[in-house]
Amino acid sequence: MTPAPRILVFDSGLGGLTVFREIAAARPDAQLLYVADDAFFPYGDHSETALVARVVPLMGELIAAHCPDFVVIACNTASVQALAALRAQYTVPFVGTVPAIKPACAQSASKRIAVLGTRATVAREYTRGLIREFAQGCAVDLVGSADLARLAEQELGGMPAADAEIAAEIAPCFVDRDGRRTDAIVLACTHFPLLLPRLTKLAPWPVAWIDPAPAIARRVVDLAGPAAGVPSGRPAPFIATSGKVPAAPLAAALARFGLAATVAA
Ligand code: DGL
Repeated sequence: MTPAPRILVFDSGLGGLTVFREIAAARPDAQLLYVADDAFFPYGDHSETALVARVVPLMGELIAAHCPDFVVIACNTASVQALAALRAQYTVPFVGTVPAIKPACAQSASKRIAVLGTRATVAREYTRGLIREFAQGCAVDLVGSADLARLAEQELGGMPAADAEIAAEIAPCFVDRDGRRTDAIVLACTHFPLLLPRLTKLAPWPVAWIDPAPAIARRVVDLAGPAAGVPSGRPAPFIATSGKVPAAPLAAALARFGLAATVAA
């Protein structure tokens, strides 16, 4: 791996920023690039066939254009459906993001957890396989949210959603049945940690919210090694596949993450 690896961080939209910030903290010297496939957002509304047909060729174009040393798919919905096809198609290494069911079950004292993802992520066989393999006797409630990713994007764009809208999306995660009350919730969509202070505030009772981003950053360091150079101090490029230029509130939010929008698609 080069001393300052070129890492492409990819998501359907802004959720991958929660992963990007952990990677940037772990490897501040890396040459980072963020691509939001906002032209196809939300991924959670597409069929598996449509998503694979979208992501695999798009990734080919991105790899050709930006020559990354590796790619981080900072999106559960894309990872559980398209990661195998991406790895089969391209030689560049991919780091995926999949629901953190194993650590959540391991840390649950009540032995009841919830997995909060997009509707696509919770419906897919890949996620069900993780439960079969790693639930370790935990009851696992799968909750597919139709709107939370969109609400997270709105929040970052300076238009916070009403409490009631967010509360309704998370309510099915909180289960108190058979003497087991949910005590951990897997944030199985990278958009959701953007709302963490509001999720915490609106939770009917306290739970551990499991964000996979720190583990993904550790995996990146495993692959790329520890920081070896000096940070450039320049913002990393943010590319939106729609070609849209972010409005001022979003541009300011991106700057807080260390990114600057570029018009190149
Ligand atoms: N950020 C994405 C995820 O981790 C998906 C949101 C969407 O596009 O539906 O699943």
